[in-house]
Amino acid sequence: MAHILKRALEVLRTEGPPGIVHRLAHLCGRHFSSIHMLVLVSSFDSLPDIVARQDKQTQAMKRALATPLDFKQVLLSDEQEIDELTELDPWKYPKSLTLDKLREGWICFVAKKDDRILACAWVVVNRDFDLLERPFALGPGEAFYWRGFCVPSCRGGGIFPQLMAHIVEQVGRERSITRHITLVLASNVAVQHSLAKIAWKVVGRAGYVEIFGMRFQYLWGREAFKDTQKRFFLHRVHQSSH
Ligand SMILES: CC(C)(COP(=O)(O)OP(=O)(O)OC[C@H]1O[C@@H](n2cnc3c(N)ncnc32)[C@H](O)[C@@H]1OP(=O)(O)O)[C@@H](O)C(=O)NCCC(=O)NCCS
Repeated sequence: MAHILKRALEVLRTEGPPGIVHRLAHLCGRHFSSIHMLVLVSSFDSLPDIVARQDKQTQAMKRALATPLDFKQVLLSDEQEIDELTELDPWKYPKSLTLDKLREGWICFVAKKDDRILACAWVVVNRDFDLLERPFALGPGEAFYWRGFCVPSCRGGGIFPQLMAHIVEQVGRERSITRHITLVLASNVAVQHSLAKIAWKVVGRAGYVEIFGMRFQYLWGREAFKDTQKRFFLHRVHQSSH
C-alpha cells in the first residue's frame, strides 16, 4: 500500500493529475471513464471587434460575413427554426429535448444569414441545473451558457463569438445578468479560442473520474459557480448514464 501511495505521489509530482488519470484508465480498462471541463466567465463590458481570419475563410463563410448577421431568440412557436436546429445539432439531440428545454425556461439564440441558421447557443438564468449527473447552482445575476455550435461550413469565421457576444449583451441588459458562465471540454481547443476572442477567462475546472461505477465529482476554482455547495463528492452512477 505504501509503495502504491509513494508511486502515486511521484506521478502526481512529475506529471500532475493527468498522469494519475492516465494510469487509472490503463489499470481499469473499460471500467474507467472521465470528463474534464474548464469553467469560463465572460469579462468584457462592451462588444469587442471580432476579426475573422482571412486565410481561413471559405466561400460560404465569405458570403455569411459580407453583411451583419441576424440574431434571434427561438421561441416554442418557431417550428421552422426548431426543425432546422434538430437537423444541424452536432450532438444529435432530439427535437423533444429542445422543446423540453424551452418549456423549462432555457433560452435559445441563433445567428442567421439569408434565413438560415449558422450558429446557436443556449442560456439559462437565475436557476439551478443538472449536468454530468450533478447539480450546479446559479446565484442571483448569473447566467449559464450551453450547447453552442457553428455550422461546419462557417467555422473559423468568428460567427460563434459574435453570437455569444450578442447574447451576453442582450441577456445582461434585459435580465440584469452581471455574471456569464460556461463549461467547455478541456480538450475542445476550438471553443476555447473562440471564447478567448470575446474575453472569456478560465476560472476553474469541473468534471469527474469514474471507476467501477463510482464517480468522483470535482468542481474547483473560487470564482467557479460560487453558489454551488457540493464541490467534491462521490456517488454511484445510474445505469442509464452509459
Ligand atoms: C467551437 C465552435 C462553436 C467555434 O465556432 P466558430 O464560429 O468557428 O468560432 P471561431 O471562428 O472563433 O473559431 C474558433 C476556433 O476554431 C478553430 N477553427 C478554425 N477553423 C475551423 C474549421 N474549419 N473547423 C473547425 N475548427 C476550426 C480554430 O482553432 C479557431 O481559432 P482561431 O481563429 O484562433 O484559429 C465550432 O467549432 C463548433 O461548432 N464546434 C463543434 C461544437 C462544439 O464543440 N461546441 C462547443 C461546445 S461547448
